[in-house]
Amino acid sequence: MWKHYHIIETIEELAELLAKQSGATKIIAGGTDLMVEINSDQWPELDTVLDISRVIALDKIWQDKDDMLHIGAIVTHNDVLHSRLLRDGAFPLLQACYTVGTPTLRNRATVVGNLVTASPGNDTIPSLMAMDAKLVLSSVRGERIVPLADFYTGYRKTLLEKDEFVKEVFFKSLSPCQKGAFKKLGLRKAQAISVLNCCVLLTFDGDKVTDAKVTMGSVGPVVMHAPNAEQYLIGKVVDDSIIEEAARLAVVDAKTRTGRVSKEFRDYMMKELVMEALHDLMRADLRQSIPQKPISLNTRDDWSGVKQGEWDGDTIKTTINGEEYVFTGASDMSLLHLLRDRAGLTGPKPGCEEGECGACMVFMDGRAVLSCLIPAPRAHQANITTIEGIGQDGVLHPVQEAFIQHAAVQCGYCTPGFVMAAVKLLQEEPHPTREQIMAGLSGNLCRCTGYNKIIEAVEDIKHI
Ligand SMILES: Cc1cc2nc3c(=O)[nH]c(=O)nc-3n(C[C@H](O)[C@H](O)[C@H](O)COP(=O)(O)OP(=O)(O)OC[C@H]3O[C@@H](n4cnc5c(N)ncnc54)[C@H](O)[C@@H]3O)c2cc1C
Ligand code: FES
Ligand code: FES
Repeated sequence: MWKHYHIIETIEELAELLAKQSGATKIIAGGTDLMVEINSDQWPELDTVLDISRVIALDKIWQDKDDMLHIGAIVTHNDVLHSRLLRDGAFPLLQACYTVGTPTLRNRATVVGNLVTASPGNDTIPSLMAMDAKLVLSSVRGERIVPLADFYTGYRKTLLEKDEFVKEVFFKSLSPCQKGAFKKLGLRKAQAISVLNCCVLLTFDGDKVTDAKVTMGSVGPVVMHAPNAEQYLIGKVVDDSIIEEAARLAVVDAKTRTGRVSKEFRDYMMKELVMEALHDLMRADLRQSIPQKPISLNTRDDWSGVKQGEWDGDTIKTTINGEEYVFTGASDMSLLHLLRDRAGLTGPKPGCEEGECGACMVFMDGRAVLSCLIPAPRAHQANITTIEGIGQDGVLHPVQEAFIQHAAVQCGYCTPGFVMAAVKLLQEEPHPTREQIMAGLSGNLCRCTGYNKIIEAVEDIKHI
């Protein structure tokens, strides 16, 4: 894991610690990329982790007087989905965030983390690149502004210097004469990294296109523009034949190669995706494709930072199921192992330990989260609920009763995670539709019961 863990309180502290680093140092925001890497021993020499997830100054979405939209470094994908400003001014970004992982993952995963990981399949990059987004890179040396398109220097490589961090990403709010759409091809609807993705953004004067952006992911080492398709679209009135030719040119621009997926398949599907994006952006009802209140398994909108100066680098003081706990010598483990091995709460299960299965799900400050992807010190001054804490006075929770009634359990390994997701879903939306139930449970895998009984159990709960 790591040797030293810092809970960062201010931007200045972050810049100073980055400037002074001696051993291998990593910033952690949501941890949904980094913890997977750490759990699979990709960072054997990791010395220091800088946890920025409670720096209040980085947790903001705002619009300035020049109509620029700014997204701070710890804004999560779920925050984006619930932002009125971004729904109005950056709908292709909402579409991208809506496809990232699952609601539980999106409670922690940040947009900036997605940009810095720099995988060519990461979903927010094509939309933000199409909107000409820029990054503010900060260090003790000062700040510099870098266009997102110039940020990537190769596969998973960026021009971020060792002592720098990304403070925010910003871009111009889309105007009424601009229309954009993001499309993704994944192996399933949730929890699927893009096989391919793209964004198309057009600016119109009446019916005529005056500017065009076509960006494509997973077609090379970095997300790229399709210059010929973009040039072709300018001056056109969009119809079926224009759409077909623009998509054909985008595929030529992509210069795909056979890798995990064959060139033929990539080319065929990228053409389809670009055509779908162009058709979608002409649809009057496009914005209804994302619910006004997407299920996020989060019942706490307000959020406060960590109390100043109360982290000594080791002692974790936390509240679990209403009881206060103090742990020492546990700051180099995951929250999952803190709960199981130190608190003796074995309800949260180690399934995959890479964010895929939901068996380790707990609530942290009102949000459903994956405890395998959370460093234990993140629980310091937080309020944690595990499956052991959802019933009262020895009486099972109505969700647990419903699972028994519907025989929604076989081996039971996945059950704590499913119950936690269902409880949070019903707290958030007491009368969910079947679609909302499926969205709420999309981060949980079961290898034996099958999903129908679980969904029926949740549908059957009248009150909690
Ligand atoms: C099960 C699962 C499903 C996923 N599904 C998707 C998906 O569908 N689409 C998708 O695009 N991604 C997906 N991801 C990847 C991941 O969730 C996203 O990339 C996420 O947005 C990363 O954000 P984070 O805050 O968790 O990053 P972290 O893990 O905290 O950080 C990621 C990297 O960025 C660095 N970093 C973070 N913030 C800063 C900063 N401010 N300045 C400098 N460096 C910084 C960290 O040091 C680290 O190297 C998935 C991951 C998992 C585990
Ligand atoms: S998601 Fe945490 S153990 Fe599988
Ligand atoms: S009941 Fe066995 S994995 Fe779900």
